[in-house]
Amino acid sequence: MERTLSIVKPDGIQKHLIGEVIKRFQDHGLKVIGLKMISMDKKEAEGFYAVHRGKPFYGSLTTFMSSGPSVVMVLEGEGAISKTRELMGATDPKQAKEGTLRRQFATNIEKNVVHGSDAPETAAFEIQYFFNALEIFEY
Ligand code: CDP
Ligand code: MG
Repeated sequence: MERTLSIVKPDGIQKHLIGEVIKRFQDHGLKVIGLKMISMDKKEAEGFYAVHRGKPFYGSLTTFMSSGPSVVMVLEGEGAISKTRELMGATDPKQAKEGTLRRQFATNIEKNVVHGSDAPETAAFEIQYFFNALEIFEY
């Protein structure tokens, strides 16, 4: 079983989409095995998005991600990484397929409601960034 990390980003929280995002994942066979509300500071957002350091959007992205609370979750399921990304849709909501979370709810390419890990190695890094072993549950 594969695991991935997803985040309802600060814009998703403001838009009251916590339940909508979790329901979408659960309805498609993903199991929530870790879940919490957090508020990243700028440094924590910079560490989380370290792979994007140096890109033009890095400063604005990390300011946005530290602008308010987020909900972080660990999802488990067959093909959890690609399934989560399929349900999210493309980074830019204008490119995202009809019916995806980002197409439906995102404001723009930055404020795009939801995060999902993009590979097994990034999923492992991102899960341990927010969760310790006692915060992840088998059921
Ligand atoms: O989140 P995803 O994996 O789809 O995209 P990314 O390329 O890993 O970028 C991470 C995040 O940076 C995006 O989800 C956007 O919030 C933001 N971003 C942006 O503001 N402008 C861009 N041109 C690309 C990404
Ligand atoms: Mg990414």
